[in-house]
Amino acid sequence: MVNDRKVGIVGTGFVGSSSAFALMQSDLFSEMVLVDVDRDRAEGEALDILHGSPFGTPMKIYAGDYADLADAAMVVVTAGAAQKPGETRLDLVNKNVAIFRSIIPAIRHCGFDGILLIVSNPVDVLTYAAIKMSGLPEGHVFGSGTVLDSARLKTMLSERLGVDARNVHAYIIGEHGDSELAVWSSANVSGVSLTDFCDMLGHRDHVRAEREIAEQVKNAAYEIIEKKKATYYGVAMAVKRICTAVMRDERHILPISSLMVGEYDLNDIAISMPAIVGRDGIVCRVPISLDEDELSELRRSAASLRKIMDQIDF
Ligand code: NAI
Ligand code: 2OP
Repeated sequence: MVNDRKVGIVGTGFVGSSSAFALMQSDLFSEMVLVDVDRDRAEGEALDILHGSPFGTPMKIYAGDYADLADAAMVVVTAGAAQKPGETRLDLVNKNVAIFRSIIPAIRHCGFDGILLIVSNPVDVLTYAAIKMSGLPEGHVFGSGTVLDSARLKTMLSERLGVDARNVHAYIIGEHGDSELAVWSSANVSGVSLTDFCDMLGHRDHVRAEREIAEQVKNAAYEIIEKKKATYYGVAMAVKRICTAVMRDERHILPISSLMVGEYDLNDIAISMPAIVGRDGIVCRVPISLDEDELSELRRSAASLRKIMDQIDF
C-alpha cells in the first residue's frame, strides 16, 4: 500500500538535505525518510530539519533504510558525486552509474511502487539508467531535467524585462548540461512574444541578448560551483515544484527529463522537454514547436548524450 503522505530521499548531501528542508515546508507530506550510505549524515540532517518542523506543520522525519521506502509515494534520488570546479556533469557519469547500480535495485527490491524522481548528475543518463534498472513503469521514473535551468532562464529574463518571472513562459530543453538549448521561438511574456515585448520596451538587438542569456543560464552552475563549491537551493526548489505537481495531481507542464518515444524523432534516450506531470507521473509529453535551428540543436544535444550512453552497459 502506498502512503500518499510519505516521501523518501536517497542521498542527504547538499542537494538531498536542501530538498528535504524545502519539502518539510511544503505541506505535501507528513512523513519523510532520509537514506544515505553515510548514516550519521542522514541522522544529523533528519534531526536538524525535524527540529524546524514545529514552525511549519509538524511531521515525522527520520533516517532510515531502503525497507523504509517501500510505501513511499515518491522517492527523490540525489545520491552521488557532485561536480568539482572545472568538471562537467558528464564527467560524473562512471562514478554515479556505479552508485546507481546499488541504489536503484535496492529501491526496486524493497517493494517501492511510487514515483521515482532522479536529481543526481548527469541527470539525463541517470534517469535512463533508473528507468532500465528499476522495473517501474516508464512514466513513473523521470529526472528533474531542465526544470532548474528553465527557472534560471525565467529569473534572468524577469530581471532584464522588469516583469514577474511567473509571467515569463520560456523553456530550456535538451541535456541538463552543456548542450542544452533555449527555445526562443515560442518564448513569451503572458502571451506576448518575447520579440514584441522587447520592442515594446525599446530593447534592440534581440539575437545578441538571447545568446548572452542562454550562455549565462548554461554557465550558471559553473559560476556558483566556482564561488561556493556546489549548487543546492535552486534545485531544492525545483524538487519541491515537481513533487507538488505530482502530489497535488496538478497536471502542470514542466521540462522534466524522460524517455523519448519518437518525439522529434528521438528514441530510447532520456532528455528534457515539457511534459504534463500529475499524480500518476508523466501524463504525456508536450512536443512544443521548435524552429529549424532549435530542432537541430536538440538533435545535437541528444547526440552528445548518446555518445556517453553508448559507453555504458545499462
Ligand atoms: P554531496 O557530495 O553533498 O552529497 C552526495 C551524497 O550522496 C552524500 O551524502 C553521500 O554520502 C551520498 N551517497 C553516495 N553514495 C551513496 C550510495 N551508494 N547510497 C546512498 N547515498 C550515497 O553532493 P550534492 O552536492 O548533494 O550533489 C548530489 C548530486 O546532485 C550530484 O550528482 C550533483 O551533480 C547533483 N545535482 C543535480 C542538480 C540538478 O539540477 N539535477 C543540481 C545540483 C546538483
Ligand atoms: C546545477 O545545474 C550542478 O546540475 C547542477 O546546478
